Formats: sequence, structure tokens, C-alpha cells
Amino acid sequence: MDTMNKNLIRLLAGACFLIALFVFSSCSNNDSEPAGPAIPIEDQTLKNAPYPVGAAVNITSLKNSEKYRETVIHEMSSLTAENAMKMNFLSKGRGEYFWDDADYLVDFAQQNGMRVHGHTLVWYKHTPSWVSEFSGDKEEWKAILKEYIQDVVGRYKGRIASWDVVNEIVMDDGTLRDCIWLQKIGPEYIELSFRYAHEADPDAVLFYNDYGHEWSFNRRLFVNHLVDSLRTKEVPLHGIGLQMHTNTNRSLLDLRYAVTSAAISKVKVHVSELDVSVNPDKKDITFTDDLAQKQSQVYKEIAKVMKDIPKELQYGITCWGVHDTGSWLSPNPDWALLFDGDFERKAAYRGFIEGFQ
Ligand code: XIL
Repeated sequence: MDTMNKNLIRLLAGACFLIALFVFSSCSNNDSEPAGPAIPIEDQTLKNAPYPVGAAVNITSLKNSEKYRETVIHEMSSLTAENAMKMNFLSKGRGEYFWDDADYLVDFAQQNGMRVHGHTLVWYKHTPSWVSEFSGDKEEWKAILKEYIQDVVGRYKGRIASWDVVNEIVMDDGTLRDCIWLQKIGPEYIELSFRYAHEADPDAVLFYNDYGHEWSFNRRLFVNHLVDSLRTKEVPLHGIGLQMHTNTNRSLLDLRYAVTSAAISKVKVHVSELDVSVNPDKKDITFTDDLAQKQSQVYKEIAKVMKDIPKELQYGITCWGVHDTGSWLSPNPDWALLFDGDFERKAAYRGFIEGFQ
């Protein structure tokens, strides 16, 4: 081969490499957008994230605490009811409901331009006594499940964007968790729940929500298998919710895997109940700068990995509470959230912003 041909081949090889690089970088979604100048932290809000960021809210605090309400309005683009939409809160008897708190939340979100995520239709906990005491054959159990799901989803059709349809259904060994619906209907209750919800609001994004993805390879695997097999049967399941009640002892790599492995099923991924405990062993400790920095790294990693999965799968991140003292972990004590007891932004908040920037 003469020198001219060799040079031509080199040139062609170089061009192919550049084309491949260009195609790869345009496919790897997020990096293709030009990074604007960083916004100073004091001018930031969680609303600036490239995906919705929200919090689980307590309706009494939302109604009665001005600071709580202002923080929610200023920072959040998505809301979940911490408890107000669980079955025993809503359902007082067959066909009898207490809607006030759930209505308040949905109205509040709508007035302030926020998305609402519904939590949760079917769970082994929070079962009302009329359900535990119900007696009927399999068809009658299916009927009460359908009525409940369709009454709730139907009431908020078009106003609640998404639902955790089933919550915490898998055990650590991959078997299905025992619950009244499994006992009375069998494993079919899972797909039926999704189908009933979908019939009531065909536009709602429907999630399977569970915990432990960040600490158990097996749990990740079982969830992927379950989701894949339901989708093969054309069950309307559109997303995986990762609760992510985590802590500062977890490796950042495991947190990353939790999110990326959910994305492998090619469904939307919602980090749905995020909090980062600094005191998982419930010791008598104080919240030091060192702990604050460690916690900040965790929030940063999670905010970052959500941005790193394909854009169409990024459903968002919901923190399980607004401020430390309102957290379900707070009696421990713990300091698990982005805002302290006075609603001041913590190092964790800065970490979160750095993660999505
Ligand atoms: C918790 C609430 O935060 C508490 O106020 C309540 O007493 C019990 O439930 N996984 C879930 C959430 O799916 O609904 C739980 O919320 C926390 C664990």
C-alpha cells in the first residue's frame, strides 16, 4: 500500500471515530445540553432541577405552619401525601370515604402549579378494619379491591399524575409478601390493581414502589423480574418507585446502582421517599459538620444519578418530609432531610443542587 492510501485510510478511520464519538455523546442524553452559568446557591430552588423534586407532606403542617407552607411553595414541584392517601385514612367503610385531607392537598398543589403523586393504593399496612373483617369469596374480594381503587383514582382523575399502585410486595428472598389481598385473591391481585387503576385514569403513571434496592442485589433483581414479567403480560405498569430510606453508611456506588438498575427495565424511575439518616444506629449523638458533609455527598450522588439515566425515565425525586423535625425519623433523633428544624437549608441542600447542576 502506498503512503497516499495509508494516509487516506488513517483519515477515514479518524473521521469514523469522530462520528462515533458524536453519535455516542448525543445519545448519552444529558451531556448534550450546554451547561449554563451556575446559579448562586442563595438564588437556587429545588425547582431548578432538570426533573421534578418534591416532598411528602403532612396536611396539618401545611395548613398551620406558614414556614412549612412557604418552603413547600418555594422549593417543591411535586407533592406526595405522607399519610393522607393511605387506605385506612381514606376508607371508613365500603363506599364511605374521608376525602378532606386528600382534597386539601390536591387543591393546594393545583393552586401552586405542582404535580401530585398518589401514595399508596394497596399496601399490607394501613388496612382499615372493615377490610380485615370482610368476608366473601374471591370474586367479592376482587370487587371490593376494584371499587376502592376506582373510587380513589377516579375522584382525582386528571389531577393526580401518578400512583404507587402496590407498595412493598416483595420479601428479601424474592417471594411475595403476605397480605390480605394475596390471601384472598392470590398473586393476581397485583396485576388486577394496576388494571383497575388504569381503567379509572388511563393517563395516570402507575408505579410499583418498594424499599431496599440500595442494599440488596437480590431485591433489585426480583423487582426487575417482577416488573418485566408484568409488562410482558401488558399490565399497565409504568414505573418503579425506589423508597430510598437510606443513611450515611451506604456506599455511593450502591445508591447509584439502585437507580441505574431500575432504569434497566426501561420504566420511569421515581426516588419516592428519600431521606438520609445520619444516625441509623439510634445512638445519642450530635449532628457534626463531618456528618453534615457525608450526608451532603449522599444527596449529591442521588441528585446526580437521576440526571444520568435517560431523560424519559427520570420521574423525579421525592424527599420523605420537608424539614428535619417533621421527619418520621425525628424522634430518634435524626437529621435526615434537606432543611433543618427552622427550615434553613443544610449542607445536604447544597449537595443536592450540586448534584443536578
Ligand atoms: C410512614 C409515615 O412517614 C409515618 O408517618 C407513618 O406513621 C407510617 O408510614 N414506607 C412507606 C411510607 O411506603 O408510607 C412510610 O411512611 C414509610 C415507609
